[in-house]
Amino acid sequence: MLNELQKEIIDLKEEKNAIILAHNYQRKEIQEIADYLGDSLGLCMKATQIKDKDIVVFCGVDFMAETAYILNPDKKILIPDARADCPMANMLSAEQIRKAKKQYPEAAVALYVNSTAEAKAESDILVTSGNATKVVNALDEDVVLFGPDTNLANYTQKFTDKEIIPIPGDGHCYVHKMFNPGDVAFKKEEHPNAEVLVHPESNIDVQEAADLVLSTGDMLKYIKESDKDEFILGTERDIISRIELEIPDKKCYPLLDDAICKTMKLHTLEKVRDCLLNEEPQIKVPEELVKKSKQSVERMLKASK
Ligand code: 13P
Ligand code: SF4
Repeated sequence: MLNELQKEIIDLKEEKNAIILAHNYQRKEIQEIADYLGDSLGLCMKATQIKDKDIVVFCGVDFMAETAYILNPDKKILIPDARADCPMANMLSAEQIRKAKKQYPEAAVALYVNSTAEAKAESDILVTSGNATKVVNALDEDVVLFGPDTNLANYTQKFTDKEIIPIPGDGHCYVHKMFNPGDVAFKKEEHPNAEVLVHPESNIDVQEAADLVLSTGDMLKYIKESDKDEFILGTERDIISRIELEIPDKKCYPLLDDAICKTMKLHTLEKVRDCLLNEEPQIKVPEELVKKSKQSVERMLKASK
C-alpha cells in the first residue's frame, strides 16, 4: 500500500508527463514508486527509451543522471538532491586521462560509467559492471586504459587477453572497499546454506572468497532464476529492498550491515516530490561534452547487445 506522499508523487508525475528512474541502491520507499529500477547498464538502456516523456526524475548519483542527459539533451533531467555524487567518479580527471593517452598512444580508453562528464569526453567507450568484459573484448586495440575503478579493472583482466592498465591506479568505491575475506567467512558461518554474491568493485581477495561476482542487475537476475533460497550480498545493502519487493520468497543478508552509499541515500520522497513541483534541481552537461561523450555511451550500448 502506498502512503499519501507516494500517491502525491505519482499524481504529480502523471501531470508533468515525467518518469522516475531509480538505481537499485535507493531507499525502499523510492523503489516502490519508480517506473524503472535497475543497475547502471539497465538505467542507460532505459534512458534511450523515454522519447514520449518530458521530464526524467533520476534517483541515483550524478554520473547516472548525466548519462541520461547525454542521451536526452532535449529533456529535463531532475535529480532530487543535487549533492548526490559518486566519490569514485571524482577520482579520475580528464587531465589524468589525457596524460595516460600520451603515455600509451596505442591504447583504447574504456571508462567505467562511474566517471565525470569531462572524463567521459576523453574516452573511446564506456563500460558498466555488467558488461565490462564483453565491451573490452569487443575492442580492436590490445592495450586498454581502464578507470577509475581498479578492482573492476583487475576483475576484467581475468577474462581478457588484452593488457588492461588501471588509471589512476587507486580508484575505488569506499562502500565496496569495506568488505574483506573475513566478513565472507563470518557470514558464511552464520548462514551456511547461503551463496555469496559480490560486486566487482569489491577487493580481489573478497571476489575470490565469494561464489560469484556480479553487477547489481545480474545479482537480481541470478537470484530470481536460482534454485537456492539464501544469499549473502556483498554490495550496498538496499539491493535487498529490491529483492524483498520482487522476490520475497528468497532470503538475502548483507555482507556488512553498514555497506551504505551515503550519497545515494540523500534522495528522499519529500525531495522527489519537491523536484517535480519546482522542476529543479536539473542536471545539465555542457553541449561540447555531450557531443564528445555521446559516442562512447552509444558504442557501449551497441557492444553490450
Ligand atoms: P551497478 O551498475 O552494478 O548497479 O553498480 C553501480 C555502482 O555504483 C556500484 O557501486
Ligand atoms: Fe559510487 Fe560506491 Fe556509491 Fe556506487 S556505491 S555510487 S561506486 S560511492
